[in-house]
Amino acid sequence: VNENVDSEMIVYLNAKERIDLRARNPQIWARLLRELKACHSESGQRKLKVTELGGGLGGLACALLDACDEIPLDYTLVELDARVAATAQARLEGQSYSQHTVSVVNDDLLNPGLPDQIGQADLVVAQSMLDLLDLRVALPHIVELAKPGALFYAPVTFNGFTEFRPPYADSQVEYQLLTTYHRSMDEHTGIHPDAGGSRAGWVLQRNIRRQGGAVLETGSSDWLVTSDPAEPTHRDFLTHILNFFEHSLSNRTDFPQYQLNLWLDQRRQEMDNGHLMLHIHNLDLLAEFPS
Ligand SMILES: C[S@@+](CC[C@H](N)C(=O)[O-])C[C@H]1O[C@@H](n2cnc3c(N)ncnc32)[C@H](O)[C@@H]1O
Repeated sequence: VNENVDSEMIVYLNAKERIDLRARNPQIWARLLRELKACHSESGQRKLKVTELGGGLGGLACALLDACDEIPLDYTLVELDARVAATAQARLEGQSYSQHTVSVVNDDLLNPGLPDQIGQADLVVAQSMLDLLDLRVALPHIVELAKPGALFYAPVTFNGFTEFRPPYADSQVEYQLLTTYHRSMDEHTGIHPDAGGSRAGWVLQRNIRRQGGAVLETGSSDWLVTSDPAEPTHRDFLTHILNFFEHSLSNRTDFPQYQLNLWLDQRRQEMDNGHLMLHIHNLDLLAEFPS
């Protein structure tokens, strides 16, 4: 285990939580709560089962559990990374929900034994993680984790656009850098129009419809982040994003490494001076799985 990488991930996920809180689309959130209320009454007021995939530190879990004070939830957070899962578990166990039950499972959502282990949910949640997986492979596993006709809430899924400000002196170089970065995401998930990757937001909607599901609501949930010294969490977030660019573009033959280093130096300097701005386009989705 690389301790530094692990702690950087936890600092990033903490920072991301505050940014997501502002980014998530409020109309889709309100519709989700209305749908859960309806589902709760139709079920004869039973506890609703929720499964969150790649739940990270549990920020969305806490937001949803707090918002559902009149709808009792049996909430299971599935997380692949053992240390992240342990942090989420300690956090969620520290909350004293009288109406909800909460558990954390350290597992891979692609594990075929998972549906037997945790059962099928009334609502499946997956935030900011579907761009990491080949959707052709992941969606059938996700469908197995849901009851027929269950709800699917997938907020803050990356959808193809990244922009830094102020303008970079050589805009062509930055354009090429961003294009290579998006390509590296596609290579990770598989270069195929249905795999998702850098277009996961759109592809997810199309693939859900193709599987016989229905899209109830969709909207944007962009991240707009500035390196304002008064917002230290923004700085943590931007530090991670720049490190992630470095990690994704180092040792590639399709982007000059000296250009990468010049770009990173300038963007890190702008971050330190409080001038760096980042816009990332994400989509929120609320859907219904096939009945
Ligand atoms: C970008 S983070 C987002 C975390 C959280 N959903 C949030 O929005 O803060 C992606 C998370 O998905 C987890 N993850 C990635 N692949 C996974 C898989 N196959 N099964 C379960 N979790 C996975 C990662 O460990 C990481 O915690």
